Amino acid sequence: MDVRFDPSGPLKGRLTPPADKSISHRAAMVGAMASEPVVVTNYLAAEDTLSTLEAMRTLGTIVQRDGDRVVLRGVGMRTPDAHGETIDVGNAGTLMRLLPGWLAGQDGRSFRFDGDASIRRRPVDRIAEPLRLMGANIEATDGRLPPFTVHGTQLRGITYELPVASAQVKSCVLLAGMLADGGTTVVEPVASRDHTERLLSRLGVPLWRDGDRITVGHVDELTVEDIHVPGDVSSAAFPIVAGVLVRGSRLLIEGVNVNWTRTGILDVLQRMGAVVVGERERRQDGVVPGEEPVADLDVAHGPLKATTVEAEEVPLVIDELPLVALLGCFAEGETVVRGAEELKHKESDRIATVVNGLRGLGAEIEATDDGFVVQGGTGIRGGTIEAHGDHRLAMLGAVAGLASREGVTVVGMEAAEVSYPGFGDHVARLQRR
Ligand code: S3P
Repeated sequence: MDVRFDPSGPLKGRLTPPADKSISHRAAMVGAMASEPVVVTNYLAAEDTLSTLEAMRTLGTIVQRDGDRVVLRGVGMRTPDAHGETIDVGNAGTLMRLLPGWLAGQDGRSFRFDGDASIRRRPVDRIAEPLRLMGANIEATDGRLPPFTVHGTQLRGITYELPVASAQVKSCVLLAGMLADGGTTVVEPVASRDHTERLLSRLGVPLWRDGDRITVGHVDELTVEDIHVPGDVSSAAFPIVAGVLVRGSRLLIEGVNVNWTRTGILDVLQRMGAVVVGERERRQDGVVPGEEPVADLDVAHGPLKATTVEAEEVPLVIDELPLVALLGCFAEGETVVRGAEELKHKESDRIATVVNGLRGLGAEIEATDDGFVVQGGTGIRGGTIEAHGDHRLAMLGAVAGLASREGVTVVGMEAAEVSYPGFGDHVARLQRR
């Protein structure tokens, strides 16, 4: 579907972003592991997280969904069984990388995973390595790609140093650790999103953080309290950046999750001089808070200056780096992102797709091995951008169009449904005020 986004007048009004995708995936999985029914409110009803509910059904969980309220009657920690059915992860990388952690601990059972064409290009070797060290066997296509099969076993606890900061790999090992004999420790090179740790610790799972080391103990039964999912800062980032870039805009973005491991985009915006005001959680080193903090963010248009994002900050802003590239086009000076090779393994190769996409719209942006460099001050002329089936690229094109001089056509806008159903309606509403 091609959708045109014309240069916009001021964006005004209030908006509640969709529920957090990362937390919704995790809520569904722990709901399936529980032995008593669990109610999840404000569950994200988008393609990715509906794939997770479907996967939980395949494993024997009863799932009742009424809009954004989901009731899961799980199967307990040790009895999921797909009865030979393939688990279809659709487009959801987080589902594909987290769920094998739980299933690797199912002694004597095997689980086959597959997904769409884009998922078949996304590697699973990073989870296969620690799971093998714990005793499980993973058979993947060409050694590293879906479709793949997880052969479960009685796992043993390990200490695993993540070669690259990844919340998905960390979470996979922690889920496996709950079924392993002895404790399991994950060592992070730099901090990444900690929703799994917060959720497990709130549910009473023995879990400690000591500096960059997170240790989880064995769990026989999971008692899950009801879970409320806060708004997704990664989705909110699209209207926030639109508000910052479109002249005369003033927005209130409500109910946003401001967990410090997710708010790198707000730090970047602050350094660039953008007007985005609201409470934020301060960095929490050495503790695992049980709760997810929420805040309202007040956003206004204003001038920007360039900034640099270094490797250490990358995991805190990983999904918003396409927007940093767009912001860089409007900032005074040179905006640089370094240490972000991980972008190559997202829903598209986001170094290539962002750089080529924005360049086609008139941006002065160059790819590097581990990020990109943007010469600011050009703004966005306009043109056509291809979403490559990547939800964040589709929405990047839309925001670029609103802030452009001539308008942007996004080819494949339907990709936005993966994380932000109703994105187009939200934009239209902010334009009508
Ligand atoms: C996610 C972690 C990140 C992120 C992805 C969601 C998660 O991936 O890009 O959109 O929910 O754990 P990596 O952990 O692979 O960087």
